[in-house]
Amino acid sequence: MKDKIDSVGIVGLGAYLPEKTLTNFDLEKIVDTSDEWIKTRTGISQRRIASPEMATSDLAVLAANSAIKNSGIKKEDIGLIIVATVTPDMMMPSTACFVQAKLGIKEAACYDLNAACSGFIFAVIAASQYIANNTYKYALVIGAEVLSRFVDWKDRSTCILFGDGAGACILGKVNEPGILSAHTGGDGTLAHLLKIPAGGSRLPMSHKALDDKLGFLKMEGNEIFKIAVRAMANAAEKALSKAGLSCKDVDCLIPHQANIRIIDATVKKLGISKDKVFLNIAEYGNMSAASTAVALCEAVAKGKIKKGDILVIVAFGGGLTWGAIVLKW
Ligand code: UT7
Repeated sequence: MKDKIDSVGIVGLGAYLPEKTLTNFDLEKIVDTSDEWIKTRTGISQRRIASPEMATSDLAVLAANSAIKNSGIKKEDIGLIIVATVTPDMMMPSTACFVQAKLGIKEAACYDLNAACSGFIFAVIAASQYIANNTYKYALVIGAEVLSRFVDWKDRSTCILFGDGAGACILGKVNEPGILSAHTGGDGTLAHLLKIPAGGSRLPMSHKALDDKLGFLKMEGNEIFKIAVRAMANAAEKALSKAGLSCKDVDCLIPHQANIRIIDATVKKLGISKDKVFLNIAEYGNMSAASTAVALCEAVAKGKIKKGDILVIVAFGGGLTWGAIVLKW
């Protein structure tokens, strides 16, 4: 990967959050938990839940339409669609193919990317390369998840954390510097810490797998917690240094919204002041690949990012994976 990606930027943003809200008080009625525990241990107050008839591609299309409108480009100029997700509509074909069909963008290349919660960052970086080398004029990158279908609603250690949503961006050539640098990494030896064990070729779905609840998300939260802070701080620092910048130059930090304590510890390690950090974890919980995508869209919409600002988007997730992007807005 080239350290610097010249003249590629974000030219449009959009998001979609399902209407239904599930509060911590609602969860108190489902599992042995409390609003106080969830708020103090995670920073989450509520999350959104997709309606039963909606799949990940439906959320993705709504976010994409809003990003296309926001960009002002013709959708026919989009040559590539990447959907970052761990909750695809089905194993095959990719969710991106459903999105392409629903958007009516004929012949655009489309594929899914699975880097768990870091997926949006990985997808933006991948798409940027195609724009930089003129393969496509515009790329549509979406982070979309319907995690509510993959959590065990009897497991209080996971079901309180996750929510559904989608965020999208349009990437294209820009006159002024857009994406300045990026850094990504992973550690597959830690794959066991966060997984959906059944439904793939290792353990095809079966009655036994269903009975054993192996089609649901399993997580060793404590172990991930320890690694997450180091991984996010390192990724942000490495990406900034590739751009010749340091934490002092950062005007806005958009971290993956997994746990407020992870965010606080990362921000402290980086020495970035809290007022520069964009948060929406209280309202949406952890939406995996959709988290940073939605946060970026909301930060811009709420005027938290101004023209010329230095912005860092940083995430970690299952795999394990981690990544950061530095942008000049
Ligand atoms: O997106 C990337 C992937 N995931 C993450 O980033 C998750 C990272 N990890 C975390 O956010 C935290 O580890 C959790 C929020 C998942 C858990 O918080 P924790 O402070 O690490 O709690 P813990 O697992 O050490 O559990 C502490 C206690 C336990 O009780 P005992 O054994 O001390 O009696 C748990 O059984 O809290 C209990 N507990 C709960 N109590 C009430 C666990 N979940 C709950 C709950 N409500 N929902």
